[in-house]
Amino acid sequence: MIGFIGAGSIGGAVITGLIKNGYDAKEIVVKGGKSNRTKALQEHLGFKLVQKIKQLEDVNPIFIGVGANALDSVLLELKSISKDKLIIAFTGNATVAKLRQSLPDAKVAHAIPNTPVKVGAGFTGITYSEKFTEQEKKQVISIMGYTGQLVEVPETQLGILGTVAGCSPAFLDLFIEALSDAGVKHGLNRKLAYDAAIGMALGSSKLALQSDLNPSALKDEVTSPGGSTIKGVAALEEYGFRNAVIKAVDAAEGE
Ligand SMILES: NC(=O)c1ccc[n+]([C@@H]2O[C@H](COP(=O)([O-])OP(=O)(O)OC[C@H]3O[C@@H](n4cnc5c(N)ncnc54)[C@H](OP(=O)(O)O)[C@@H]3O)[C@@H](O)[C@H]2O)c1
Repeated sequence: MIGFIGAGSIGGAVITGLIKNGYDAKEIVVKGGKSNRTKALQEHLGFKLVQKIKQLEDVNPIFIGVGANALDSVLLELKSISKDKLIIAFTGNATVAKLRQSLPDAKVAHAIPNTPVKVGAGFTGITYSEKFTEQEKKQVISIMGYTGQLVEVPETQLGILGTVAGCSPAFLDLFIEALSDAGVKHGLNRKLAYDAAIGMALGSSKLALQSDLNPSALKDEVTSPGGSTIKGVAALEEYGFRNAVIKAVDAAEGE
């Protein structure tokens, strides 16, 4: 059995991704918050819902999806049942040092998933404490694999990886919306414009993933000399597209 404490936006997305992609809901135990949110998710997905953290005593690993304001009280409650357990926290400020200090008998990790975990296409960065064995890392991969990719990085890179993979779904949504607006401006109906923009983002990502060429070379392939695409690329550059994206990441990083 695996456990979750907190099933809000990101905890709920991971649970949904697991179950929708074949993880047995009967093997998942969730301790939710005070609102009806987790209950509503449970009615939809069928996992086991418990009221107290103590009820996760026989569960391992445990994933923590609560916000920063609830983390300390959750860790305090978790401490007495955490011995030798694998505890993976998604909470933004749940550094490995903080988790290690609060749960000295557990094996802790800090992970930052993104919302595409919900459809099994997530990209999650993770930093394990040194106590994790290779076998235990494989155990975490075998679970998170249902939700997409899991990549181990040093904790110094976890934040920026979380921004590049985790804030950017909103950036891409904005791009898709803008592209669709442009389609509507030039006569497409809204649904067709969205279908085209979303289908393009999906297809281009798949091509970039499967191709030996990097995105820059893929762009070169579709920009014929004097053609309409290079004129569009030049217009994007004129309006600072590349710099806008870099500045968006700077802003998300708090610079
Ligand atoms: N959203 C993302 O894309 C994302 C990605 C990576 C990491 N994170 C990090 O993950 C953390 C949570 O973010 P979120 O967006 O998922 O927040 P959220 O939607 O507010 O979810 C937090 C959930 O924790 C529940 N909760 C609070 N106290 C609890 C307790 N004592 N026991 C059990 N459950 C409890 C809340 O319950 P109620 O239902 O009662 O409110 C809520 O459902 C943040 O630190 C965030 O930085 C978020």
